[in-house]
Amino acid sequence: MNLSEYVDAKHDEHLSDLFEFLRIPSISTQSQHKPDIERAAHWVADRMRRVGLESVEIIPTKMHPLVYGESLHAPGKPTILLYGHYDVQPPEPLGLWTSPPFEPTVRGRNLYGRGTADDKGQVHIHLRALEAIRQLTGGLPINLKMLVEGEEEVGSENLWDFVKSHKKKLKSDALVVSDTSMLGLGVPSITYGLRGLNYYQLEITGPSQDLHSGVFGGAAPNPLTILSELFAKLHDKDFRIAVPGFYKDVAKLSKVERKALNSLPWKEKKFRSTVGAPGLCGEKGSTILERLWCRPTLDLNGIWGGYMGEGSKTVIPSKAYAKFSTRLVPNQDPREITQLVEKQIRKLLPKTVHLKFEVLSTGKAWVAPYHHPFFELARQALVKGFGKRAVFIREGGSIPFVTQMSDAFRIPCLLLGFGLPDENAHAPDEHIALDNYFGGIKAVAYFYEALGGVQI
Ligand code: BES
Ligand code: MN
Ligand code: MN
Repeated sequence: MNLSEYVDAKHDEHLSDLFEFLRIPSISTQSQHKPDIERAAHWVADRMRRVGLESVEIIPTKMHPLVYGESLHAPGKPTILLYGHYDVQPPEPLGLWTSPPFEPTVRGRNLYGRGTADDKGQVHIHLRALEAIRQLTGGLPINLKMLVEGEEEVGSENLWDFVKSHKKKLKSDALVVSDTSMLGLGVPSITYGLRGLNYYQLEITGPSQDLHSGVFGGAAPNPLTILSELFAKLHDKDFRIAVPGFYKDVAKLSKVERKALNSLPWKEKKFRSTVGAPGLCGEKGSTILERLWCRPTLDLNGIWGGYMGEGSKTVIPSKAYAKFSTRLVPNQDPREITQLVEKQIRKLLPKTVHLKFEVLSTGKAWVAPYHHPFFELARQALVKGFGKRAVFIREGGSIPFVTQMSDAFRIPCLLLGFGLPDENAHAPDEHIALDNYFGGIKAVAYFYEALGGVQI
């Protein structure tokens, strides 16, 4: 039996095993799910052992545990660090799911459930690929160090402490991550760039308590109105971010890269229908892909305050809140961006309110060349696994660990993503295309096999 036949023959087993993983509601941001986080970590550790990894450990951190396992029996062959995350985003709003988020369900050629694409399904692709190789050949052709964390969706704060104090343990020739997307259905992709992310929260206080809007309205400052005015001023009419200095370090796209990106097999019509709004917006002078992958953004993620219950209440609220974030690109410095943003906000706000400005997380963008020979092996493996041409893309999302590893270890980072942009990651009805899940198992197995042919 060859690899592809073996993966096909195990079709039902792959899925029933994945279902077990998906049923664990390992939501990293909600403390009531701590036991589920622990369960998911144990589940991953158990599967690592089953596919033959050794020294498998569940490593506690200040928040959620890391799971680590290794197989180091291929002297002279590449050592690969494989990274993924077992935590997921909250499923809310529950009412918008067609089937329950933690009850994996196949509809058509898709598998629905929280974590199917981001990232449990993609971690599972690697577990099944490793299992297939082991069953067919009796061992692994490479050295593998597998690290799966439980805090990616909350910023990977504690992972970095572990990495810094275990540099030797994690030393490897390349990082492999499957936590990104393909350009489109039938277009296997290798991602060579991600945006960074700075996340902020504001609290604006006006009156020392809520006030009757009839008695005080017209003379007392309204923090909600002031907050709205503030955010209206943070973009100009060309949809550029109106923070002095914000663009000063933004790397210009080279002619060659711009041409390559804009000739990818990508359909604006498909993108429009995925967005589903009556129209699109964006910065003048950039194509949509450039806006999504290569240009920074500033987005309000939530805004609240005052009365939000049934009916009406005439009130001037004491406080107004906002969560907002900036996606960063090379060569923006996240710390400097924070200073610039805070400075501009303080400047724009009137003296009638107080501001509390909080930084919830920060992270730099990542873009790397893809000329290391492993990229060509990965590309060929994708072609073999999917029977389609593979492309190199950038993406707009962020994976803090990739940036950190790339900076600290200076190794090639291979992002082989098997999700799709319209698979509702972080949203109701998250799903993964079954063809990509199975194609992914084959492609990853071929990739590890090919790496086994490399002498280090
Ligand atoms: N898997 C995503 C990152 C991603 C999404 C990369 C789409 C490429 C394309 C990851 O789980 C994620 O959601 N990251 C967060 C950042 C984190 C610090 C919360 C993000 O991008 O918002
Ligand atoms: Mn992810
Ligand atoms: Mn995510």
